[in-house]
Amino acid sequence: MNGQPLSEEELFTLFEAARWAPSTYNEQEWRFLYARRDTPSWPRFFDLLVEGNRAWCQHAALLVVILAHKVFQKSGKPNPVHVFDCGLAYENLALQGTAMGLVVHAMQGFDFEKARTALAVPDDYAVVAMFAAGHPGDPGNLPETLRQREVPSGRRPIRELMHEGVFGFGEANPA
Ligand SMILES: Cc1cc2nc3c(=O)[nH]c(=O)nc-3n(C[C@H](O)[C@H](O)[C@H](O)COP(=O)(O)O)c2cc1C
Repeated sequence: MNGQPLSEEELFTLFEAARWAPSTYNEQEWRFLYARRDTPSWPRFFDLLVEGNRAWCQHAALLVVILAHKVFQKSGKPNPVHVFDCGLAYENLALQGTAMGLVVHAMQGFDFEKARTALAVPDDYAVVAMFAAGHPGDPGNLPETLRQREVPSGRRPIRELMHEGVFGFGEANPA
């Protein structure tokens, strides 16, 4: 990313895409805490990241912590798909951002417990993941190890992820 801020319209368009994701009973249990670069909140979010993610997130425009309400709003009973629904909302947002020519990059490389305390997240919300977003930069400005990763990733062969009937996947997982 190149450090350029997101416009207000870009910011709201991203979250608008997440807003329209499907969810169990239309619960919409995703919540997003965000920090824009060069604002007072930014260090609080940036400090959550592991070193490897800081290397490239320093040029992001936006850092976001995704939360999921773990219980149904009406009944207070556990919602078994709260994390799944947040994944749907994130993917909507990521596809929207990609369509707008932005970089949107999910992360598990951050301190989950620190996120809870630093951002005052209540116990009935799960800290699900973080993501960074921004305008694409020049890969030539990345450190060598990160630059090498700027190539399309592969995926497992389709037969390794679909199997008819009872569980029938091999033990070996070289990927
Ligand atoms: C939930 C999630 C967490 C991830 N965590 C990190 C991370 O902490 N740091 C990172 O550089 N990439 C992270 N990634 C990016 C993945 O490594 C990447 O999506 C995967 O290698 C496939 O590459 P592609 O998205 O370029 O096709 C994460 C992706 C997801 C979906």
